[in-house]
Amino acid sequence: MAVSAGLADVVVGPTTISDVNGRLGQLFYAGYDIRDLARESSFEEVVWLLWHGELPSASELGWFRSELASHRKLPDQTAAMIDRLAGMNAAPMPMLRVATSLLQIEDPKAVNVAEGPERLASLGLVARFPTLVARYQRRRQGQGPVEPPLGANQAEAYLTMLHGTRPDELDRQALDVLLILLADHEFNASTFTARVIAATLADVYSAVDGAIAALSGPLHGGANEQVMRMLEQIGSLGNAKEYVERQLAEKQKIMGFGHRVYKAEDPRATILRQVARELGERKHDTQWFDVATKVEETVWNAKQLYPNVDFYSAPIMHQLGIPTDLFTPTFAVSRIAGWTAHVLEQHANNRLIRPRGDYVGPAPRPYVPLSAR
Ligand code: COA
Repeated sequence: MAVSAGLADVVVGPTTISDVNGRLGQLFYAGYDIRDLARESSFEEVVWLLWHGELPSASELGWFRSELASHRKLPDQTAAMIDRLAGMNAAPMPMLRVATSLLQIEDPKAVNVAEGPERLASLGLVARFPTLVARYQRRRQGQGPVEPPLGANQAEAYLTMLHGTRPDELDRQALDVLLILLADHEFNASTFTARVIAATLADVYSAVDGAIAALSGPLHGGANEQVMRMLEQIGSLGNAKEYVERQLAEKQKIMGFGHRVYKAEDPRATILRQVARELGERKHDTQWFDVATKVEETVWNAKQLYPNVDFYSAPIMHQLGIPTDLFTPTFAVSRIAGWTAHVLEQHANNRLIRPRGDYVGPAPRPYVPLSAR
């Protein structure tokens, strides 16, 4: 049996949702280049595209936006649980898992994996993820939650519920682009986790719970938080080169660099570098962007590694006033779109995912009774 460590380059199954061309550094959602989507579309359009395979018409988009808005409010028990978890100072990613499980418990149709109920559950998850994270943040700061604003898109609603004021156009657009770029990425670790769970015919909430757990690790979505902690540890431009060289000499990984699939620059990083620069310049605060570019230059000179999507996500989220430990939950606020799209695709044409292990342990041997050990 052929074995590929970490399933590298193993093709698991067909998908029509997104396609990564690692050699050329390209990413497409249902055939649309991510660069066009980031420039022209909105997160809502992208969610629709991932779920339906086509861009929405104007009336479909209008309907979808109002559906999302009307599902943003949290059910009572979930809201109360968020308040308790905030009071306990629970870590944000476990909070998101608990909240997702509770949404499942509060949804009477949760176990139904038929397409209709599952689309509705998916809509609720996409709509409510920003509300969950924002409410948790407000409560742990001792502030009252902010009601989901009417007429706001996802990016605007999230920032409003987080900060208590409507964001300016620059911040709203920057977050919208970030949400578009993080929405899906083929069979990445968390999405694959979601598909494995869905393939047992478990429901979408269960699949999303597992996906959140997989996203939290520092080799996956947890990297964005680690990038910001690294930038803060470096502190100023003058320390960046020495810091990176020392880390590499000690065989430490630099968070936000390298990728399993991309052998050219991650196209999302190219766009996010530009967004981070613009945000910094327009806010007259390029400290973290400057440190980041120096880190990038040093890593390139030492190891010829490209930054990945998480690297410039960090200074962007920081500029948007998102606390560092909410960077990965904010990734989830976007990736919930891809996870749910993949669960729907898996359930539409399901087969249990059950690979084989390459057993390298002892050969069969006789049992040794306890008295003889
Ligand atoms: N910093 C330093 N060296 C790195 C590196 C990084 N961020 N990423 C990869 N490398 C090096 C490895 O040390 C290894 O070198 P070696 O062959 O001399 O031992 C080589 O590049 C291959 O790395 P490996 O970890 O085997 O690649 P992978 O495909 O298994 O892992 C990642 C991919 C993304 C997990 C890996 O690049 C990484 O850990 N990056 C940092 C975490 C991160 O940013 N994750 C978010 C991904 S979007």
